[in-house]
Amino acid sequence: MVDKNKITQKISALRKEIQEHDFQYYVLDDPTIPDSEYDKLYRELVDLEKAHPELITADSPTQRVAPKPVTAFAEHTHSKPMLSLNNAFSEEEIAQFEKRIRQTLDNTDELVYTCEPKFDGLAVSIIYENGLFIKGSTRGDGVIGEDITHNLKTIASIPLKLREKAPKNLEIRGEVYMPIKGFEALNKASVTNNEKPFANPRNAAAGSLRQLDPSITAKRHLAFYAYGCTSELDCETHSEMMEKLKSFGIRVCPLNQLVKNAEGILKCYKAMLAKRDKLPYQIDGMVIKVNNFSYQKQLGFVAKAPKFALAYKFPAEEAMTELESVDFQVGRTGVLTPVARLKPVFVGGVTVSNATLHNIDEINRKDVHIHDWVIVRRAGDVIPEVVAPVLAKRPKNAQKIVFPTACPVCGSDITQAENEVAMRCMTGLYCKAQLIEAIRHYVSRKAMNIDGLGEKWVAQLVESGLIKHIDDIYHLTLEQLLKLERMADKSAKNLLEAIEHSKKTTLGKFIYALGVREIGEVGANTLAKHFKTMDNIFIATEEQLIAIPDIGPVAANHVMRFFHDKHNQQIIHKLIEAGIHWPKIPDTITHAQPLLGKTYVITGTLNQPREDIKAQLETLGAKVSSSVSAKTTAVIAGDEPGSKIQKAEKLGVSIFGQEELDKLLLS
Ligand code: IVH
Repeated sequence: MVDKNKITQKISALRKEIQEHDFQYYVLDDPTIPDSEYDKLYRELVDLEKAHPELITADSPTQRVAPKPVTAFAEHTHSKPMLSLNNAFSEEEIAQFEKRIRQTLDNTDELVYTCEPKFDGLAVSIIYENGLFIKGSTRGDGVIGEDITHNLKTIASIPLKLREKAPKNLEIRGEVYMPIKGFEALNKASVTNNEKPFANPRNAAAGSLRQLDPSITAKRHLAFYAYGCTSELDCETHSEMMEKLKSFGIRVCPLNQLVKNAEGILKCYKAMLAKRDKLPYQIDGMVIKVNNFSYQKQLGFVAKAPKFALAYKFPAEEAMTELESVDFQVGRTGVLTPVARLKPVFVGGVTVSNATLHNIDEINRKDVHIHDWVIVRRAGDVIPEVVAPVLAKRPKNAQKIVFPTACPVCGSDITQAENEVAMRCMTGLYCKAQLIEAIRHYVSRKAMNIDGLGEKWVAQLVESGLIKHIDDIYHLTLEQLLKLERMADKSAKNLLEAIEHSKKTTLGKFIYALGVREIGEVGANTLAKHFKTMDNIFIATEEQLIAIPDIGPVAANHVMRFFHDKHNQQIIHKLIEAGIHWPKIPDTITHAQPLLGKTYVITGTLNQPREDIKAQLETLGAKVSSSVSAKTTAVIAGDEPGSKIQKAEKLGVSIFGQEELDKLLLS
């Protein structure tokens, strides 16, 4: 017979180990074992508990989902009210907030504030007794909330058991939210199942917490961050108290930061706003709290909000407005993009009057009509988009959006390729819209870098017929340019100079500039390195292309078709005749790689552009890096070198000049 004691011990050791890994993962954000190892431990515990159900305890990590749904939500009266925060929207309001605090505290010294993300989720209260999670509730009206213990228990970042040093009684306040990835997956599944998607992660989190059946909540992958506690835990400051919570195993946001005075608050706000769209969860502002508890007490409360804290809101990323009409824009590759023309609305910090509707599938999925009231979203620098119509406000004159059957620019037929959502005008550069887009791409900084040939000029040059093919750029005259509306003599001369200057390029940049579908900067450089000459690319077969690492089958097909096309070859020849040239790429097949394992950093002006030197060094097997470290073989410095020289000197890295570089390139 197996010794029962041993099994009890094994189960308890496994639980402890899992709990420790949860702490590492959720609280310290520093997992120490791979997921697969964790899963193994978890499975082992499940199996042992299955064989010995009498040993299951409520705090076991396997006991997050209660077997039976609850029949209703019970009321829960909070031990201390759950307050809300006053909002601020401008720097002036922050200045006033700070000034008021200083007046009340009669304090002219530096004041310390904690700045925390304002999580866009739902406030909850969670109660631990003797280190065990026993009850959790919603905020409700601040005095009475709903008991949602069964659902909160399913949230992996809320520990069921605290670490040893936690006090006997502990009540934590914090926010439950739905990470963006989880939200997107949930909505994708809703659409597949013909269910209505949630408007945003906050609503999805709210909907998930209001489930009677915890097995549904468990599938929603909610998360939790603590932002307060009903006790000061013998600490003098909020930040100290939060650190203590962390040591008990409670998850605290690593973005929380201490700052001084209004200046520090504003700086932190800007930094947090810049981070907003890179975070894996939504935040809608920054919460500022006076850090010192005795100051907090002196400041007190007004109505239902503390005077020592404030929510400094970010500009809303969503707003409601009317969709007046829909236009179809033709892109570089002929794809038609439906663009909603909106009644101008202030959103994400700017006035928006156009927003993308992406494609026909999205229009159908969202069921957007012309004249609808719609939710518009502008997050960070992302192109504004129409999120959804407000169906409750749909007017009688709402019209279905009809996709054109002919290109709105050149009148050619529109086709939809198999397996593709996009509708396209297939006439290529015959279509003026596609020519304009192609030239815009061709002249862009990372392509041929023709400074001064901005979007408006490109459109004018194409509309006026001065540019019918890309190579016409190189035959423009001063006289022609001066005929363009608002083109001044100086700008025209500068432009011609920039055009001339751009003729000297690299093969990689030239390939990228041609705008082959699926070929970005990296792909273009790979092709250049591999084939070395344009003539080699013209005759490359699909098999050869597929064999190149980093070029997938779809890209290979586009490359093959583009460069085999006689018209495209003609255009490329004409561009080369017009003077486009690049340094010859040495043949590495007969070339050993004498600089393999060496790393160089280039700074200052040398007798060739840095890009060219880089390409040559790389062909010889060297790596070229942009920053100096102890691993750098040498810094190659030309005239007016940057601070990299000092860094090299400090690290004892060799410094080469033009002469040494010439020698290197001959190796
Ligand atoms: S402190 C006494 N800190 O914002 C103040 N609240 O309008 C208690 N919230 O209901 C709140 N992130 O749900 C605090 N870092 C944070 C927060 C935060 C989000 C929510 C919370 C509260 C609402 C206040």
